[in-house]
Amino acid sequence: TTVEWDAENYDIGGHDHFMHKEIFEQPEAVDRVLRGRIDDRFATVHLGGLNLDAREARAVRRVKILGCGSAYYSGQIGAQLIEELARIPADAEPASEFRYRNPVVDPDTLYIAVSQSGETYDTLAAVQELKRKGAKVLGVVNVVGSAVAREADGGIYLHAGPEVCVVSTKCFTNTAVAFALLALHLGRVRDLSVADGRRILDGLRKLPAQIEEILQQEERVAELAAAYAPARSMMFVGRVRGYPVAREAAQKLKEVSYVHAEAYPASELKHGPLALIEPDVPTVAVVPDDELLEKNRATLEEIKARSGRILAIGHQEQRTADHTLTVPRNEPELDPILLGIPLQLLAYHAAVHLGRDVDKPRNLAKSVTVE
Ligand code: G6P
Repeated sequence: TTVEWDAENYDIGGHDHFMHKEIFEQPEAVDRVLRGRIDDRFATVHLGGLNLDAREARAVRRVKILGCGSAYYSGQIGAQLIEELARIPADAEPASEFRYRNPVVDPDTLYIAVSQSGETYDTLAAVQELKRKGAKVLGVVNVVGSAVAREADGGIYLHAGPEVCVVSTKCFTNTAVAFALLALHLGRVRDLSVADGRRILDGLRKLPAQIEEILQQEERVAELAAAYAPARSMMFVGRVRGYPVAREAAQKLKEVSYVHAEAYPASELKHGPLALIEPDVPTVAVVPDDELLEKNRATLEEIKARSGRILAIGHQEQRTADHTLTVPRNEPELDPILLGIPLQLLAYHAAVHLGRDVDKPRNLAKSVTVE
């Protein structure tokens, strides 16, 4: 079975689709995940439901994040944030892969299950298997009191409000923000300085207004979506922080517009997918102004040399790209949160342009509660 929804139970608030409504709710949703959690005095955050005291938080040697679909990709952003801010080795894995490979469950590892619904069967089964083996499991969940939330030892609620569209937008963003909070917390009980803690807190506070600013570019994104949607296939590339952004953006485009898309780490292009690049296969490149900017620019040149069209997403106009969408500058660690927003709009408008069933894409369900 899958969880079905009845649109009549929800208010679409004058939008054409729930996906559009939920994309535009993000400034408010991010504000809610931050609310009441910022602790300026100690340059950290309070996460009331974590059930992890400072001693336990310091004892964590490794973090493993589990989820499915967009929850997995947001978990990948989370793993990077935890490594960057707390310097704890962290990685994300699809919950189903994890539970089928008879994983080594380690007592010094903190396990974190990510799920909007809290009911995804594979994610829940992974949590149950971990609990059975005595592991500590946290949930990053939107639906209060859902199965994952109940089975976990503690966690962080997303407070994003109901997400009705089958594809995740505001919950993806709020998950990334929730992980920034957790990473900050874990960092500040370890070696993250007060100055860095303040820097991240200031960055987090800027997010809602910056998301608002990005959403104002909707008309331009819609034009670009119409220009790129007829492509035979689209390549999405990014490096390190940009890579999970590319993966989620490719996923979003596939889900709602049925345009074939592939995501690759930019550095891996030359090890295979470069063979696919031609005028009919454009590339969306995530190119923030971080320490990898020059490397990313070299990738743009490689694509251009194969006459591939390029849409760049970053902080400044890229000369090699045919088009650039820019997002406001924040702290580099938080870049993935903002870089994903224009790409949600791109997928949405590609789907609208192609006349797709945006809120209920064919063959997909909001919550997959079977194996
Ligand atoms: C389904 C949905 C996706 C979602 C995934 C995980 O595949 O179509 O949009 O990301 O399930 O859902 P969850 O509720 O666990 O976050």
